Amino acid sequence: MPIDDASWSELEIAAREASERAYCPYSRFRVGAAVLTDDGSIWSGCNVENASYGLTICAERNAIFHAVAAGKRVVIAIVVFTPTDRPTAPCGACRQVIFEFGAATIVRSICRGRERLEEPIRVLLPEAFGPSNLDGSFQ
Ligand code: THU
Repeated sequence: MPIDDASWSELEIAAREASERAYCPYSRFRVGAAVLTDDGSIWSGCNVENASYGLTICAERNAIFHAVAAGKRVVIAIVVFTPTDRPTAPCGACRQVIFEFGAATIVRSICRGRERLEEPIRVLLPEAFGPSNLDGSFQ
C-alpha cells in the first residue's frame, strides 16, 4: 500500500506531539511514535517509564498497542521522533512487535536535525520470527 505525502506528514506531526507527552523522569529521553494502519487511521504513543525501570514501555510499542486496542491489526508505517540531533532506530523488542503487525511495515525515524532513517521492518529485523512460524506446520 503506497503512503502519500499527507499521511507521512500527519504521522510525523503525531510522533512529535506524542514525544511531548513522554513520561521519562529517569532517562529524560523523550520518544514519540505514530503508526498508520491499513484503514488510514493514525495512532500515537510515547515512552512511559517506571520507578521499577524494567517496566518501562517504549513509544513504538505504546503506539502499536494503542492501535490494536482500537481494533486495528495491520500497521503500514511507523514514525519515531526523538528530539535529538540524529535519528533513533527502534530497539530490538519494538522491531519484533512491529513485525507482528506488519511484515512490510515501513519504519521512519526522524529527529530535530535533518537526518532521517527509513527502512522496511524486514531490513531492520532480518530472518524474523513471526506469526507465520506458528501457522501449524510445526505440529
Ligand atoms: N525508548 C523508546 O521509547 N523507544 C526506543 O526505540 C528506544 C528507547 C525509550 C525507553 C526509555 O524510556 C528511554 O527511551 C531510554 O531508553
